[in-house]
Amino acid sequence: MSNSHLEARGVRSLYSRAISHPRLYTAQGVLLGRERLKAAMRPVIDRAVGGASSGTVVDIGGGTAEARALWPSGWRYIAVDNDERMEGLKTDSMERVTGSADDVPLPDGLATHVFMSSVSHHLDDRTWAAALTEVRRVLRPDGTFVFMDGHFVRGDVLSRLGWFLDAGRHPREESRLLADVSSVFDVVSVDRLRLLHHVVIVEARQKG
Ligand SMILES: C[S@@+](CC[C@H](N)C(=O)[O-])C[C@H]1O[C@@H](n2cnc3c(N)ncnc32)[C@H](O)[C@@H]1O
Repeated sequence: MSNSHLEARGVRSLYSRAISHPRLYTAQGVLLGRERLKAAMRPVIDRAVGGASSGTVVDIGGGTAEARALWPSGWRYIAVDNDERMEGLKTDSMERVTGSADDVPLPDGLATHVFMSSVSHHLDDRTWAAALTEVRRVLRPDGTFVFMDGHFVRGDVLSRLGWFLDAGRHPREESRLLADVSSVFDVVSVDRLRLLHHVVIVEARQKG
């Protein structure tokens, strides 16, 4: 491997370690347009909620769980993350569980809604496939899966810069993400948005 490749890997690894800190992660979100992203997710989530007065959301890879505010305040909200530092961010409006997306420490059929936002690009192929199986397991038969992530666009310089700066090492193309989600769920809607990353927001249901 050339010196420049080694240097780029070193910079990326330092950056990835720094950005995984909750405070820096929040600052990075401002730069990456997370508010616009929330605005784009809101109608998808509102549609999935459908005015129901009660429900249980399992937010897999919940991180700082800023998305809590997008879901009804009276609902049960459980954020699962494999980074145990997230447990320190527990609030009255959510429960926190430390666990991995491919082995979620929650019972079958607990969730009316599973939410996974900006997580799949952190998961290698084996973990991503197992995570989708776990989403299916914890989701009620009539439940909804709301999935959002950035995707890789070949030949787009800004997109490449975005992925260089991102802590996740497994960005996938949109077609691959949709094929993977469709292999486990029925896709109900697909919304798209361009920030630094190209982003896809998917609403899906258990296969009928
Ligand atoms: C980019 S952050 C997204 C956080 C949050 N979902 C959001 O949209 O703001 C990715 C999160 O996934 C978590 N994560 C990475 N690999 C995971 C795994 N195997 N299982 C559970 N969480 C994981 C990280 O700890 C981090 O909190």
